[in-house]
Amino acid sequence: MTCPPTPSIPIQRKDVFSMRVGMLTSGGDCQALNATMRGVAKSLYKMFEDVEIIGFEDGYKGLIYADYHMLKSSDFSGILTKGGTILGTSRQPFKLMRVPDEFGLDKVEAMKHTYKKLRLECLVVLGGNGSQKTANLLREEGLNIVSLPKTIDNDLWGTDMTFGFHSAVEIATNAIDCIHTTAASHGRVFIVEVMGHKVGWLTLYAGLAGGADIILLPEIPYDVDMVVNAIKERTRQGKRFSILAVAEGAISKEDAALSKKELKEKKKTQVVFPSVAYEIGAMITERTGQEVRVTVPGHTQRGGEPCPFDRVLSTRLGAEAANLIREKKYGYMVAVKGDEITSVPLQEVAGRLKTIDPESAIIKEAKRVGISFGD
Ligand code: F6P
Repeated sequence: MTCPPTPSIPIQRKDVFSMRVGMLTSGGDCQALNATMRGVAKSLYKMFEDVEIIGFEDGYKGLIYADYHMLKSSDFSGILTKGGTILGTSRQPFKLMRVPDEFGLDKVEAMKHTYKKLRLECLVVLGGNGSQKTANLLREEGLNIVSLPKTIDNDLWGTDMTFGFHSAVEIATNAIDCIHTTAASHGRVFIVEVMGHKVGWLTLYAGLAGGADIILLPEIPYDVDMVVNAIKERTRQGKRFSILAVAEGAISKEDAALSKKELKEKKKTQVVFPSVAYEIGAMITERTGQEVRVTVPGHTQRGGEPCPFDRVLSTRLGAEAANLIREKKYGYMVAVKGDEITSVPLQEVAGRLKTIDPESAIIKEAKRVGISFGD
């Protein structure tokens, strides 16, 4: 099938000082997407006499189906503190990128077509893991790409920190803080389920910051007996309550030992719980007789305004992305290494997760203060 028609936008002035870039936000949103786009745009407007920024709507979908609009410099004003994304976003799974759409459209060819038709100098992609994989695919296809590390999960390989993470940590921590007072009044076990299917950075940070007694992470499969022992030990010490911070992807040792197929089969035969926290809660009640309450802050963790840390980080990452464009250094993701803002080749980032090492210092320190990881 042929590519969709792309209305052409006349180039105002194309000289060494002019620059036309495309921009999109992809995957799950987070609080600092607008702040980051602002950082890129403000820097570009400073660097080039004539800047045109074309915003693609709803992530790669806008690039595939040529849904875009020209952004004005005023679009980037007043958005530093605004959550969400002015461009909209959507999940376009990487594994389906090479699969034609329902009308037989070749998505990769369509994206290249839109890019070329618009005569973009480069495409700026703000995204998490899947989005970085697609960014790398487009790089392999010959497009000039600069990407930025977005996700509340902080699981992108190649960067110490992603923007959005600390804002989400604040919200998840606040949830645990609020639970603390009610937990103390009632003497119950409380579970706060924190976002993160494959990695537990958000749960670990929020759990530590919120003073959780037990933290369960996807990277450290738990033994339910150890979890129960930790609760019983607290009761023995006269503590009236226990708080668990549990990642969405927390998994038992037993289940972690199974193959994906075996696990799927096992789940078919079990009681279906709304989520992992409820399943763990039921096991705790069964073994301790204690009342358990579950709180799932869910998508509130991605909502609201970016925290000051993220605003600073986004501004710095955005400024560096613009710098890469000025230097025509394409095929890189801007990144944080210690206090430095740097960049890493996309092919190194794509498809690699930054998980928590169970032997890392932060886990050892947490254990030292008495936190149980159920292992
Ligand atoms: O990747 C960010 C994230 O918020 C994860 O922490 C969470 O598991 C997932 O997205 C939720 O995705 P969705 O918004 O599609 O339900």
